[in-house]
Amino acid sequence: QGLRFDYSHTCAFLDQHDWDRVAPEVLDAHIRLHQGTGPGSDSRGWLDLPVQDKKSERKQIKEAAEKIRSTSDVLVVIGIGGSYLGAKAALDMLGHHFTNLLSADKRGGPEIYFVGNNVSSVYIAQLLELLAGKDVSLNVISKSGATLEPAIAFRVFRDWMEKKYGSEGARSRIYVTTDRKQGVLRRLAEREGYESFAIPDDVGGRYSIFTPVGLLPIAVGGSNIDEILSGAADGKVRFETPKLVDNPCYQYAAARHLLHQKGKLIEVLVSYEPRFRFFAEWWKQLFAESEGKRGKGIFPVAAEYSTDLHSIGQYLQDGKRHLFETVLTVRKSEVDVTISVDPHNLDGLQYLDGKGMDEIRARVVEGALLAHTDGGVPNLVVEIPRLTAYHFGELVYFFEKACAISGYLLGVNPFDQPGVDAYKMNMFALLGRPGFEKLKAELEARIRG
Ligand code: PA5
Repeated sequence: QGLRFDYSHTCAFLDQHDWDRVAPEVLDAHIRLHQGTGPGSDSRGWLDLPVQDKKSERKQIKEAAEKIRSTSDVLVVIGIGGSYLGAKAALDMLGHHFTNLLSADKRGGPEIYFVGNNVSSVYIAQLLELLAGKDVSLNVISKSGATLEPAIAFRVFRDWMEKKYGSEGARSRIYVTTDRKQGVLRRLAEREGYESFAIPDDVGGRYSIFTPVGLLPIAVGGSNIDEILSGAADGKVRFETPKLVDNPCYQYAAARHLLHQKGKLIEVLVSYEPRFRFFAEWWKQLFAESEGKRGKGIFPVAAEYSTDLHSIGQYLQDGKRHLFETVLTVRKSEVDVTISVDPHNLDGLQYLDGKGMDEIRARVVEGALLAHTDGGVPNLVVEIPRLTAYHFGELVYFFEKACAISGYLLGVNPFDQPGVDAYKMNMFALLGRPGFEKLKAELEARIRG
């Protein structure tokens, strides 16, 4: 049994008339997405990634991952946005909470750290400090090859690797994931002879988790990438059904669209598993970058319960009524901690004697869900049976497809990101990149006032 979507906690907010009204719009979005007649139609390659015959690429990924695992204490992954969050989400969700603190034997592979996603000198310096005396491999990921943060990190870490191993030694430890033909990084990989992986032209950053962008670091982390792709492939079939009543993915897209139309401007992705923290970051990027344009879009935020029930939980229950929650749950954990029995009942918890944490969590989820719904916050629920590689793949495909359909329902191109490009231009200009002289003068004049 696969992923389940439940929108029954929206019935005080949406009625049958709403669903009847949105059904033909969803069908239209489905047709435009599948026939390639919607905006951004040249960026739909992600739709078929899980079922493409990519045997030799998968073999190359697995061999590289095996080599990294057997020769490295640490893998440093350089990338930002879509070139970072998917892999980090998978590694956290499918790995051990404290993986980098485990002994190498227990972990079975290298520690994995990410860099190139901030402009913090301290972060870079402390990571370099951590690498002292360790054997390191590097995977730099950038589709454009031109994004400043990862490009800077690559220069710093490549330099470090060359000083440690010499240029020949560093060459055998550097892996480049970038555009097939174009860009600085592709040219650099060719000139230096680094092993490289290609990101397909028709797959944008935030939809690239099933390419080597996600698959190589995930495989180094020890997860089964075939299982991930198999879950995604089954999701592809299940979420391809055009009819709204039969398609949970389209129901999610439609529900959030209808709620948005009713003034719900913020979506809070809620989870009860700390391991979902970076999945939520990946989800935030997916929806914010895909939908937030031309003055439109739901603002995606994430909350981690129970922690956030004791902070923003107050606002959710009782604050401004312009939001809805999407609760992400796992039916059964791989371990279920049982509450021990204490005959003295000094802590007053006897009513929980012998209960498992899974059951307790289920009651907390229900309690918060009903309280928030009563407080005027519609709740959607996405549930996977277990947190496995297979269901991770299914979940990613579910949200990617829902995001594309949502974007079309909203009337935007879900595959571009003009807003992100605007900040990049300003940054290049202010840092003095050749070709940006006019913009630099304009911006500096504004800064000086
Ligand atoms: O989804 C996107 O396209 C972006 O978030 C990119 O992934 C991000 O800006 C990084 O770009 P690049 O891979 O070109 O360095």
